[in-house]
Amino acid sequence: MEAVLKMHDITGGYGEVDILKGIDLHVFPGDIVTIAGTNGAGKSTIIKAIMGLLPRVTGTISFEGRDILKGSVESRLEQGIGYVPQVANVFPSLTVHENLLVVQGVRRQKERAASMYEMFPALAGHRKRKAGLLSGGERQQLAFARALMREPKMMLLDEPSAALSPALVGEIFTYVERLPKAGTAVLMVEQRARQSLAISHRGYIIDQGRVAMEGDAADLLNDPAAADLFIGKH
Ligand SMILES: Nc1ncnc2c1ncn2[C@@H]1O[C@H](COP(=O)(O)OP(=O)(O)OP(=O)(O)O)[C@@H](O)[C@H]1O
Ligand SMILES: [Mg+2]
Repeated sequence: MEAVLKMHDITGGYGEVDILKGIDLHVFPGDIVTIAGTNGAGKSTIIKAIMGLLPRVTGTISFEGRDILKGSVESRLEQGIGYVPQVANVFPSLTVHENLLVVQGVRRQKERAASMYEMFPALAGHRKRKAGLLSGGERQQLAFARALMREPKMMLLDEPSAALSPALVGEIFTYVERLPKAGTAVLMVEQRARQSLAISHRGYIIDQGRVAMEGDAADLLNDPAAADLFIGKH
């Protein structure tokens, strides 16, 4: 099977120092892939490199077989990469429904919004509520729904569970789990690596800008060396 995303020898950073030092990583269609690792390892920087938000980068990144490394952020979004940033991912002063309708470049917006309400029933009951009044979990669902409006082939999630209470974490992972069924592969950075690997097909453990370990999620979960490299904590 052809990978939807393929990164090869990605090296780069924000200034002169290389934060990423030769990252190889791939995501197959329909896969959920976890990126784990200690604080400062370079996980968010990998996501930024894929989105076109890293100032200096060399290597190759292809998406559905096409080289995207030189493309703008907007062109990457148009090609089918969805991105849920960790903060400021909804418009608090707009209603839930308005938040869905303002997403650019969506065909048949109303039908698409209706299918989002099917996928996230909690949002359906709050169509006219201002997003700023939603609970943390509902707001995260709205952020997902906004990214899904464009029917991305792959979603990049940077710590989707970060700001949530423990009770809501399981809920958000159940939503992540549904994305492949809707045709969207997932590449997700998570501190809660055990929970994240538990719903993933594959995983990468990043250490100091390099891939320290990679493999089937189940193998990583059972590997004491992987636990040492950090995943034991959650
Ligand atoms: N905008 C930036 N400018 C300069 N250096 C940065 C910038 N963003 C991150 N860094 C540095 O790059 C390194 C990797 O950061 P990154 O955010 O990718 O880590 P991370 O693995 O996502 O960590 P965390 O688990 O804490 O989110 C860190 O040393 C960080 O200080
Ligand atoms: Mg990070």
